[in-house]
Amino acid sequence: MADYLLEMRGITKEFNGVKAIDGIDLVVRPGECVGLCGENGAGKSTLMKVLSAVYPPGSWSGTILWEGKELHARNIRDTEEAGIVIIHQELMMVPHLSVAENIFLGSEPTTRAGFVDYDAMNARASELMKQLKMPDINVALPVMAYSGGKQQLIEIAKALNKNAKLLILDEPTSALTAAETETLLTLVKEFKARGMACVYISHKLDEVAAIADTVTVIRDGTHVATRPMAELDTNEIITMMVGREMKNLFPREAHEIGEVIFAAKNVTVWDTTNTERKLVDDVSFELRRGEILGVAGLVGAGRTELASHLFGCWKGRHQGAILLDGEEVRVHAPRDAVRQGISMVPEDRKRHGIVPLMGVGHNITMSVLKRFTRRGLIDAEDEMAAIQGEIRRMRIKTAQPLLPIASLSGGNQQKAVVAKMLMPNPRVLILDEPTRGVDVGAKYEIYKLIFELAKQGVAVLMISSELPEVLGISDRVLVMGEGRLRGDFPNTGLSQEKILAAALGKQDQVAA
Ligand SMILES: Nc1ncnc2c1ncn2[C@@H]1O[C@H](COP(=O)(O)OP(=O)(O)OP(=O)(O)O)[C@@H](O)[C@H]1O
Ligand SMILES: [Mg+2]
Repeated sequence: MADYLLEMRGITKEFNGVKAIDGIDLVVRPGECVGLCGENGAGKSTLMKVLSAVYPPGSWSGTILWEGKELHARNIRDTEEAGIVIIHQELMMVPHLSVAENIFLGSEPTTRAGFVDYDAMNARASELMKQLKMPDINVALPVMAYSGGKQQLIEIAKALNKNAKLLILDEPTSALTAAETETLLTLVKEFKARGMACVYISHKLDEVAAIADTVTVIRDGTHVATRPMAELDTNEIITMMVGREMKNLFPREAHEIGEVIFAAKNVTVWDTTNTERKLVDDVSFELRRGEILGVAGLVGAGRTELASHLFGCWKGRHQGAILLDGEEVRVHAPRDAVRQGISMVPEDRKRHGIVPLMGVGHNITMSVLKRFTRRGLIDAEDEMAAIQGEIRRMRIKTAQPLLPIASLSGGNQQKAVVAKMLMPNPRVLILDEPTRGVDVGAKYEIYKLIFELAKQGVAVLMISSELPEVLGISDRVLVMGEGRLRGDFPNTGLSQEKILAAALGKQDQVAA
């Protein structure tokens, strides 16, 4: 038997003449879990798309040995047949199909008469849900009835159903709650115990540390190191990723906090489908000039719904007042919000943040085109200068500004969305999970930017599920749980435990 289950040697892949990956090696032993780490745009997803034949042979160079023999896969179907199953960074579900239909997509069981055997399919899907510790999922419902986190776990069921020998997980936990992440990691460990190998890609390095036997680090499309996890810690991984030591992950800077400029009063938001259900329940808070206000809470606490309401894009029933400088303002649509000086970086980048096929540059400038318009015509040079300035400022990695934004790596798309939302020079900036899928170096850049904005007097409301981040940069922290405000703490001597206790409603400590 071959030593390696998988041996990728000298893999090179170009896009439009630019090398995205350049001579990378990656090996996986049977039953081994390899953590694949690298900054945004390093080439992790590209390497995995080469392996799974999303990019077919001929479109890249190098060799792939699978169980000791050259892998001749023309498409994903072939690689799945061989036992290589990939769960992509961006979810690939068909929203209107049922959970079971999604799991069996392309391999539906049929009755003797040749029709889809729904009974068999649903029974098998329910069985899988039980294995995944999600017995409550109704496999006959459309998959869109479930949260992003649940959908991610359903993707895993899909992989389970295909008897994977090698499971590739590309940023699997970015939309998962802490509990769901725990479930996922436990599952991967169980699969491993049964002999399955995996490649685990994540910017959450503590997950990598928890699950990987070996870590491979790539930087700018080239191989940096492959080492046993037992010899490493997360700081060393960071150093290898960015090529220098990063001592301080949160570049705190002193900034002055001024008068109250923004306030939400008694905001209540109802579910769009179950119209009796309150997702946000009577929430009020104030936000000061130059203040960074973190909003912590478990996923499902109502934070995104609150933000949507404040930005005028909640589709369901809602009530409550929004005040700017003490005066009530009407915000019926994002357009109104932007006009009043309120901007938002949404949580769901793919759905609300970008126009995927439009260029990176035009995505950035689209909300402020008027600024570049002279007598009804857009001054393209002016616009390009602004675009290039933003690309430099945010260090967005793109071969050129006119490429469709969808061709950027996940983290770089996120940076472009932040740049877009800063273009209108907001006074109040709402950030909903701004560093999701963003590497450590780029996180640092985003934090620096947040402090810079605060120094200029922008009031920042930052929703984040990463408690170290909330504690690392906020001046004050709101905690939400089940739609209600459960805590409002100054960030001095505040701990993760205290925030979690408040989120779970274990203490009622709304400070004056
Ligand atoms: N379809 C494409 N067309 C052009 N360039 C692309 C395409 N796909 C990827 N690239 C480029 O290849 C490089 C590697 O991207 P890749 O998505 O593999 O990065 P990544 O390591 O997965 O990053 P992230 O952590 O942000 O997901 C990036 O510079 C990206 O812009
Ligand atoms: Mg990626």
